[in-house]
Amino acid sequence: MRTSALLLLAFSSGCFAQTATLQSPNGNIKIIISDEQSTPTYSIDFKNKPVINNSALGFEFKQQAPFSEGFKITKTQDRTIDTQWQLPWGERQTVTDNHNEITVTFNKTQPQGGTFTVRFRAFNNGVGFRYEVPKQAGFDNIEITKELTEFAITNSNDATAWWIPARGWNRYEYIYNTTPLNDAALVHTPFTFKNKDGIHFSIHEAALVDYAAMVLNQRRPGTFQADLTPWSDGIAVKKQGAFTTPWRTIQMGESAVDLINSDIILNLNEPNKLGDVSWVKPGKYVGIWWGMHINTQTWGSGEKHGATTQTTKYYMDFAAQYGFDGVLVEGWNIGWDGDWFSNGDVFSFTQPYDDFDIAALTQYGKEKGVQLIGHHETSGSVSNYRNQMEDAFTLYEKSNVSQVKTGYVADGGNIKRIDENGIARHEWHDGQFMVNEYLYNVKLAAKHKISINTHEPIKDTGLRRTYPNWIAREGARGQEFNAWGTPPNPPEHVPMLAFTRMLAGPMDFTPGIFDMSFNGLGADTNRPQTTLAKQLALYVVLYSPIQMAADLPKNYLAKPDAFQFIQDVPTDWQKSIALDGEVGDFIVFARKERKSDKYSGNDWYLGAVTDEKARTMTVPLDFLEQGKKFEAQIYKDGQNAEWKNKPYDLTIEKRIVTASDKLTLELATSGGVAIRFKAL
Ligand code: NOJ
Ligand code: CA
Repeated sequence: MRTSALLLLAFSSGCFAQTATLQSPNGNIKIIISDEQSTPTYSIDFKNKPVINNSALGFEFKQQAPFSEGFKITKTQDRTIDTQWQLPWGERQTVTDNHNEITVTFNKTQPQGGTFTVRFRAFNNGVGFRYEVPKQAGFDNIEITKELTEFAITNSNDATAWWIPARGWNRYEYIYNTTPLNDAALVHTPFTFKNKDGIHFSIHEAALVDYAAMVLNQRRPGTFQADLTPWSDGIAVKKQGAFTTPWRTIQMGESAVDLINSDIILNLNEPNKLGDVSWVKPGKYVGIWWGMHINTQTWGSGEKHGATTQTTKYYMDFAAQYGFDGVLVEGWNIGWDGDWFSNGDVFSFTQPYDDFDIAALTQYGKEKGVQLIGHHETSGSVSNYRNQMEDAFTLYEKSNVSQVKTGYVADGGNIKRIDENGIARHEWHDGQFMVNEYLYNVKLAAKHKISINTHEPIKDTGLRRTYPNWIAREGARGQEFNAWGTPPNPPEHVPMLAFTRMLAGPMDFTPGIFDMSFNGLGADTNRPQTTLAKQLALYVVLYSPIQMAADLPKNYLAKPDAFQFIQDVPTDWQKSIALDGEVGDFIVFARKERKSDKYSGNDWYLGAVTDEKARTMTVPLDFLEQGKKFEAQIYKDGQNAEWKNKPYDLTIEKRIVTASDKLTLELATSGGVAIRFKAL
């Protein structure tokens, strides 16, 4: 570690401005931190061209004077990190963390003092920075009303952005907008855009712990201000004494796939805090689920009740026969009758319906080698859930359940918190209160060796590194919207997710709908707007360590050849490479399986999907090991496939390939291709 000299740069309005600079290891990214006009700012160059103009840093507080004007750089310190670490499960086994770091301390002497440090890290494909506020006089109880961080985008007039609105009633479950960057208003992160030089960027955050989520507010054209989702009383963040913020991240690269082939978010999170996590198991599951979404079953009691002992046994048999690890059962517990989404206070998390014998199913599952996957829907009544949480996990642990899907169905801003005085308050899903509530749930689950798959979650910021039992989450429009969403997910949805939502982390999208005609075919009906080959490709394209085969068993049994791919595809990877793609248009991934009891660790998989445009592409297979032969088992759109009326036209072919071959892939409209490269 060494202390770098401050650079004396300019003389302006009677005071010297100090700047500190930091470069990425390859020199492509340069961050300049300055106190010109006694105001903390930063700017960024990429390959010697400005990409982020001078942007503010700092805070406003309810009680204390703001951290903005009057602050000067008084100290800097830098270091270089080049190391590797292992993911217990993930899209790759080994992660490289190579970055240069500088900490810049700002001080104000007059009239009310104050001090804070900003820690910047420059990676080859992006930047992270966070605030570190030490203990100091007058800062015992801190209420942050505003974080002043800005992202002022250079030449924003010529930039294009892909985004979903923040603080809306539907949380993160929106169709993505493609607009000129200047038209994006209040947006969620990851916020992806490209400038006129074709440089792609994504602004997000890492390690969101005990703080409010940051959304971005375009206050002036091109200048996005951090906007922290407030508590119901209007305060953004409440802290006591010293605190650090989550990392603010700006990924950048010359191609769209550079954003995906990056581990910045994970690298900026703390290492695993749970110790031995061999009990956290990636895998595939089926479940009593889709039937409720297409209205052939119900969550609540009655004739169509899905979660019966008998139906669960049928699913367990099916799972055992076709190699699935678990059976998700929703609607097993008291509370679903009537208007469940507005009545979360009546959910019991320990009392099953009479026709669901949890003890018998635990036993049955053990005999079959299949686990029950638990389900806790809160409908946003989080205090009701909190009161029962320990008992709920105790019951599931006793029932051999090692994975629980949670749900927080409540309109934006409508999470029900009962405060210290017994008064109901309505909070956002992504305010500080809920950020803490989700993590409390994950940590308590870990004590019971249970992994959590959160639906209606807080956005992912890479916390799976620190808490590897936070195994997946939703946090975007998933497959369920194809059952009842208005409109269903459009053909470009998945190639959009790959470059936006998926940059945050794994998504429980629930792929694999084989019967797309439950309302008939055509374009004007609720159904997956894809071909069958595209449904298969989703298992490779949309990374998650747990993947559902979401359709009803009978629909898989009706298409056994296509179903073979779902049986074969793993969910845990040694390597992952985004080979090619453009935001919202198409994406091609290659992934190599990780060795486990079920997988040799030698096979590769490829998944490609396109939007409404049919496309032909040539993919060099140079990711395969040189000199080795593979049998490519190719599941592709048939000659006549097109998503609207011929989605089932699927061709399966096999051929021997090596790393020196190229494959020409022909994708139909909203089509895809899924390939297993079986090592020979
Ligand atoms: C919304 C979840 O995303 C969905 O998967 C679940 O079936 C319902 N909530 C009910 O909990
Ligand atoms: Ca949902």
